[in-house]
Amino acid sequence: MLTGKNILLGISGGIAAYKTPHLVRLLKKAGANVRVLATESALKFVSELSLSTVSQMPVLDDIFTADADGERTMHISLGEWADALVVAPATANTLARFSSGLCDNMLSLSFVTLRPGKPVLLVPAMDGYMYDSPSVQRNLSVLKAQGCRVLEPESGPLASGQCGLGRMPEPETIFEALSSIFAARESAALEGRTVVVTAGPTREKIDGVRFLSNYSSGKMGFAIAAAAARRGATVRLVSGPVTLPTPPGVERIDVESAAEMLEAARPLFDGCDLFIGAAAVADYRPEAPVEGKIKKNEAAMVIRLVRNPDILAEFSTGRKPGQLAVGFALETAGGLEYARKKLTDKQLDLVAFNIYDGSRSGFEVDTNVLTLLGRDGSITELPLLSKEEAAGRLLDAIEKLPPR
Ligand code: C5P
Repeated sequence: MLTGKNILLGISGGIAAYKTPHLVRLLKKAGANVRVLATESALKFVSELSLSTVSQMPVLDDIFTADADGERTMHISLGEWADALVVAPATANTLARFSSGLCDNMLSLSFVTLRPGKPVLLVPAMDGYMYDSPSVQRNLSVLKAQGCRVLEPESGPLASGQCGLGRMPEPETIFEALSSIFAARESAALEGRTVVVTAGPTREKIDGVRFLSNYSSGKMGFAIAAAAARRGATVRLVSGPVTLPTPPGVERIDVESAAEMLEAARPLFDGCDLFIGAAAVADYRPEAPVEGKIKKNEAAMVIRLVRNPDILAEFSTGRKPGQLAVGFALETAGGLEYARKKLTDKQLDLVAFNIYDGSRSGFEVDTNVLTLLGRDGSITELPLLSKEEAAGRLLDAIEKLPPR
């Protein structure tokens, strides 16, 4: 759930701060990118060196830290970068800063610059009397009303020597709470939508036993279908010949040639909200496939090929308002310009430009490097990701497209 997610971890000054390097480790192990924002008092409880070592990034506490380009706007870029903000432990002071919108340290500043809709998980930890105080409770209810989630403190021995409410839940519990926030967001995002995905190669018959095809494994398209189903969509997957299992909750139609793929997809056009062409459809097919097997009587032979119909273009050019069309552009070199041309020629909402390098990106392998080009001119360069993760990021980008 957290692979590739950008997590801002805010740490404020409570004794439980000493447990936070373990939380950073859990997040990193799950594949998240973590930036730690520690308040001055947090660094009295946990060392900056431990946190920067486990997060593999400098700890940020100074408002005037420059970003990678030397611009003094780190507080803004962090708010844009983050997929979520977790604050553990969140002290009474930090809750007060957040609820009143103060921006007097990097943590409170980043809370204010966090993009709307990004989840905030607050993990208050303090003495039980402080926690129950009307001021803390008022600040918490203000923050909850703003949409922040609160992971309630646990009961047990406190630093004061007393026993009671106020302990920070263990890092594992915080990790689980954050994961389930992402899971819930994922599961609801495409509720009520119908998504049609084409995947895999097509086979174009030469004769009764031979065909033209390509190396597509269908992994990317199947990962997209699986991710869309996890987000609550009704998913119809039109697949060329592949050896993959059908993802849970996905309705699958198997086809062989481009013509069959079009025939299977066409009746689905009308009822779909989003069409994603991830299939590597053969551009050409033998004009006159031969019945039975061609004999090797000739020294050379010519097979005349004719153009196949373009399934995605047929959908996108004939679609109703509100329907979205997304395609892939696989190129062996350069090619961003080709991808851009495909976006306009096929009138798409988004193109996933996919470099084929034969080892980490493109056909057959389990990983991919995608650049997403939106019809709004947006360009998102994704890093090397598993196809599952790339599928999630593609859906994230589609969900952000303005309606048409
Ligand atoms: O082959 P091309 O590079 O034009 O493919 C770009 C996009 O169009 C891909 O998303 C592919 O699935 C789709 N396509 C299609 N039917 C074709 C050719 C391509 O749906 N005949």
